[in-house]
Amino acid sequence: ALLDISPKPLAGRKIIVTSGPTHEPIDPVRYIANRSSGKQGHAIAAALARLGADVHLVSGPVGIADPADVTTLHVETANEMREAVEQLLPADAAVFVAAVADWRSETSAGEKIKKVAGEGPPALQMIENPDILAGVGHHRKRPSLVVGFAAETQDLVRNAEAKLRKKSADFIVANDVSPESGVMGGDRNRVRIVSKAGVEEWPEMSKDEVATRLAALMAERLKTITV
Ligand code: CTP
Ligand code: CA
Repeated sequence: ALLDISPKPLAGRKIIVTSGPTHEPIDPVRYIANRSSGKQGHAIAAALARLGADVHLVSGPVGIADPADVTTLHVETANEMREAVEQLLPADAAVFVAAVADWRSETSAGEKIKKVAGEGPPALQMIENPDILAGVGHHRKRPSLVVGFAAETQDLVRNAEAKLRKKSADFIVANDVSPESGVMGGDRNRVRIVSKAGVEEWPEMSKDEVATRLAALMAERLKTITV
């Protein structure tokens, strides 16, 4: 439009968000998982919806409610999350906040694995999961704005810059997840925004505030991209 009087800067924009952990089955009663709560991803989905976006949240198993005014799809595994995201393309933007399990057990037993006297524990053969963000970053239907996270316990910025390049993202939100940071499962976060333009350090704030600020940054960036 020549004159934009809309108070909702993301109206008409379709945005995909991934959030939470994934669960990778070993047998019908056991799985491999991680400590992600989904708080940051869900807060980002909600913040984007508040700016008027048509938000599709693909959530792993979390103990928190679906955000308001967001279409939420529930998945368990990395493969299911990848498939759901793929089905949602094309989109204007995508934000990958999920702590996707890097590996899964190559096979999942059909029955509960039993202890067998004298045999010892089972040896799990692990294989790598698909990288959902990298797949979308290099996709023929790549959204014009792709945002990833980098969960690191060391060399935060250097690792985030490597992920920016390798996964072809526009922004990487670099996140210190060392146990001392208290970020995993907590309500606060301290992030750096890594892009080709450099590194922007944000002060420590609540996960809701990070979400609001990131949504505003995305709206600003999408303004320069035609629908
Ligand atoms: N990611 C993804 N699919 C995966 C692994 C990661 O979409 N299979 C996304 C995450 O959602 C995040 C970004 O990639 O946006 C970085 O995730 P992270 O775990 O920090 O990086 P990895 O590439 O998995 O590398 P590592 O865990 O070894 O640091
Ligand atoms: Ca990982």
